[in-house]
Amino acid sequence: MKKVYIKTVGCQMNVLDSEMVIADLKRHGYSVVDSPEEADCVLYNTCSVREHAEEKVYSALGTIRQAKEKNPEKTIGVMGCMAQKDQEIIFKRAPFVDLVVGPGQLHTIPGLLEKVQAGEGRQMAVSLSRKDGSQAVIARSHETFDPLRDPTMRPTPFQAYLRIQIGCDKFCTYCVVPNTRGPEQGRPPEQILSEAQTLAEQGCKEITLLGQTVNSYKFRHDDGSRTDMASLLEQLHEIEGIHRIKFVTNYPKDMTERLLETVRDLPKVSPYLHVPAQSGSDVMLKRMKRGYTVSDYMEMFERIERILPEATVSSDFIVGFSGETEDDFQKSIQLLERCRFKNSFIFQYSVRPGTKAAENLPDDIPREVKVRRNNELLEVQNRIAKEDNQKLIGSEVEVLVEGPSKKSKKSNDPSAVQMTGRTHCDRIVVFDGNLRQAGEFLQVHIDDASSHTLIGRVKTVEVVSIGGL
Ligand code: SAH
Ligand code: SF4
Ligand code: F3S
Repeated sequence: MKKVYIKTVGCQMNVLDSEMVIADLKRHGYSVVDSPEEADCVLYNTCSVREHAEEKVYSALGTIRQAKEKNPEKTIGVMGCMAQKDQEIIFKRAPFVDLVVGPGQLHTIPGLLEKVQAGEGRQMAVSLSRKDGSQAVIARSHETFDPLRDPTMRPTPFQAYLRIQIGCDKFCTYCVVPNTRGPEQGRPPEQILSEAQTLAEQGCKEITLLGQTVNSYKFRHDDGSRTDMASLLEQLHEIEGIHRIKFVTNYPKDMTERLLETVRDLPKVSPYLHVPAQSGSDVMLKRMKRGYTVSDYMEMFERIERILPEATVSSDFIVGFSGETEDDFQKSIQLLERCRFKNSFIFQYSVRPGTKAAENLPDDIPREVKVRRNNELLEVQNRIAKEDNQKLIGSEVEVLVEGPSKKSKKSNDPSAVQMTGRTHCDRIVVFDGNLRQAGEFLQVHIDDASSHTLIGRVKTVEVVSIGGL
């Protein structure tokens, strides 16, 4: 049996893609190993969203080079967004790589590996199908791949990602994703529903729907009718066994009243919305070509507050984008103070070749300034998150238990296991418990809170003894 090792960086799409590639390779007789040294085939599933993510992969490739020199039979593959973006450049920078495969061709990996192993030389499969990418073509290729999942490859048996949308058409000026993932296309709802049904039958309780602008999801049927995000959620809600439905990432302009009301009316849908703002300055938003102003964002945010007062909202911010003044940056702080996001992912602007910003806008904010703004914004976010989490002390929350916490995984003491899970609102909760609780929904009483975590204890059922009986 051949052994494969896979290293994944990047977003949830990549986590899902790796799961599927491994499931596919297992069907082709591979087993999975934990280290590149013992593997016959080493795969890197890559991300191009920031330069740092790419450097990590090139540096890992530098390390694997010696192993490949010692054992030329070892096949080395680069897949995912960097494969799509860099193509031949990867062979130039790392000539010992055997395979370069873009995100749209992942189902060809077993066949390409066979070719490499048969001595046919390097293989490359990269195509964005921007020109020939009719919905039918994409739908067909995914029919043979996405639904063929292997439950053992999921992060936990009771949670799964489910892709509902491929690619992105928004072309924010800083972003490489439309170049690496191709045009936005909704998957046919029948496929999504049948995949969700299978997941439920396999014991999956929580699904997270994935798309770059997931709330813009739409699918046009042959008869001209359309399915949008709200009606997709309604249909998914009917599936027995699925208890929670989450979806990421949302695009502010498409957060309609109807969608928010649907989230409100469907108890399985988590009142948690990740809606990246990116900046609190209109000048920056325009330069980023995000398609909304700060006041549009606030209008959307107030719509969420009105329709879903219990919901948590999280965001992404980019600091140090081209021309960002101190005043622009202060506006991001103000937006964060106003919206009090549950959490924010904060990124320092990184120029991406092939984007409009790389062509037209100077990367003129010094690194030290980017670092300082990053830290400053993070500090405000952490303070807000801590304050809001502390308001939950004394309350009770329902937690879907995921497994032992990071701290517990490192500890050698099996009798004291710290377990971790998430609330419906996506807050992380840790508590002392046992491994059997994984996959259960538990009521947890919150005793303490930090900016990232709620600390609680499981409510024990009180046994009241009634005298005489
Ligand atoms: N589709 C999602 C995000 C995809 S990328 C959305 O539109 O919200 C995830 C995050 O990476 C983005 O939200 C943005 O904050 C950040 N990002 C993207 N390109 C970047 C770049 N060139 N430099 C720094 N951060 C970037
Ligand atoms: Fe990138 Fe913008 Fe598309 Fe998000 S919406 S993936 S930031 S281009
Ligand atoms: Fe990275 Fe590609 Fe995701 S560039 S963020 S892995 S879509």
